Amino acid sequence: MPEISFSEPALPTSGALVLLIGEGETPAGIWRAADEATGGTIGRALSVAEFTGKKGQSVTVLAPGAGLARVVAVGLGNEADRTRLVVEEAGGTAVSLLAREPVVVMAADLLAPALAAAAAHGALLRSYRFDRYRTQEKEDERPRLAQLSVLTSDAAGARASYAPMQALAEGAFLTRDLVSEPANVLNPAEFAERCRPLARLGLTIEVFGRTEMHALGFGALLGVAQGSLNEPRMVVMQWQGAPPARASEKPLAFIGKGVTFDTGGISIKPAAGMEDMKWDMAGAGTVAGLMSTLAARKASVNAVGLIGLVENMPSGSAQRPGDVVKTASGQTVEVINTDAEGRLVLADVLWYCQNRFDPRFMIDLATLTGAIIVSLGHEQAGLFSNDDALAEKLIKAGLETGERVWRMPLGESYDKQLKSDIADMKNVTARPGSSITAAQFIQRFVNGKPWAHLDIAGMAWAAKESPLAPKGATSFGVRLLDRLVAENYES
Ligand code: BES
Ligand code: MN
Ligand code: ZN
Repeated sequence: MPEISFSEPALPTSGALVLLIGEGETPAGIWRAADEATGGTIGRALSVAEFTGKKGQSVTVLAPGAGLARVVAVGLGNEADRTRLVVEEAGGTAVSLLAREPVVVMAADLLAPALAAAAAHGALLRSYRFDRYRTQEKEDERPRLAQLSVLTSDAAGARASYAPMQALAEGAFLTRDLVSEPANVLNPAEFAERCRPLARLGLTIEVFGRTEMHALGFGALLGVAQGSLNEPRMVVMQWQGAPPARASEKPLAFIGKGVTFDTGGISIKPAAGMEDMKWDMAGAGTVAGLMSTLAARKASVNAVGLIGLVENMPSGSAQRPGDVVKTASGQTVEVINTDAEGRLVLADVLWYCQNRFDPRFMIDLATLTGAIIVSLGHEQAGLFSNDDALAEKLIKAGLETGERVWRMPLGESYDKQLKSDIADMKNVTARPGSSITAAQFIQRFVNGKPWAHLDIAGMAWAAKESPLAPKGATSFGVRLLDRLVAENYES
């Protein structure tokens, strides 16, 4: 992880310089100083490249003079639309163009200190890399960015704005690490072990094994787990951050699907692309990263994170299509398709969560259905909720963070498709609307509590890089839910 610092504006005399430039702006501050020191080279290069400062535009100028190895200009667009997200993305774009430079100076001297912090945050997020299994990589193939110094007229102010963003980036990196790990390494027990050290941040961590979950009546989760040699786990993470006057406040609850590998079970998936199912634990990974963030930035709120960890395997002990399981709620389920396992895991964990914590709301995250990718592509997560106010808050936080969610319907006519001839419900319906009927299934286990379900199957993993993440694990949901909490529940 590159080291990030903030300092008063001074033109660097070596390394790389990043200029964040708004649309139609004229040279000022460090930009102007750099242009003058290089005898106008930067200005000429920007004009040849027809750089106008439009959002997303970028130009690299190699060896412009004045000792600089390169100057990268990144467009910030119109000042009126200059949100934190726009600046974060500009910071991220700059880093994607500068991976070969060990020392980078980013001129944010024309921006407010909070936006200078945002530029650093975006840069850090984009610098993530999961390379622990690359043993043969040559030095000249590896990114070199080691130090990023951000120039701002108010370094103390920028540092103060940046502190919670650093906590957030570390939380997102925890999520990305968990989601990137292959399933032979990250089985349920290993996932739980990686949650334990979060206790150092002040989180209370409890780990439940098969025996404890059996005692709690988790027949649905244990049915999914029974085909695997890797024992299931449930991790409960608690953060008590509410100030004394609100100390006894009910917690916000976040619940994650943590299928460390989803073969489909006896209803086995086709071979092509099955390797993607190592990230079928992304909902749980997001909850872990979020809880880490809330604790690390000492969020003034009470929150709990619960994750159900199982591996869905076919074997002589695996559950069969047609099996009937009893959930912790007492409701029974006919398992028509063993590949619809996420909802079975969530059923028990959600029921346990509302029963134990009586939370203000429950938000679950799950790579639940392929159908949500058909509906929304890789642009937005599916949002399902029984609470309009909560849904509105999530949509707003999504627009602000760029982790967007699109509300999908729920209703009686979908719910009744879950009717079973032998049990209280079955775990799948016909294909039409199957993201919705999956959400209906989950809703049967929230006991009427305010609840939102985020189907993140299309968002947890990216085949292409984006301004704030390289390709691979995106940590979708960490920034979204951190913002939801910060804006609505901390005072
Ligand atoms: N983990 C999958 C959903 C998924 C698919 C996530 C593709 C990410 C990418 C889930 O457990 C699953 O298998 N869902 C089935 C449900 C079906 C059997 C009703 C699906 O979507 O096909
Ligand atoms: Mn499945
Ligand atoms: Zn799954």
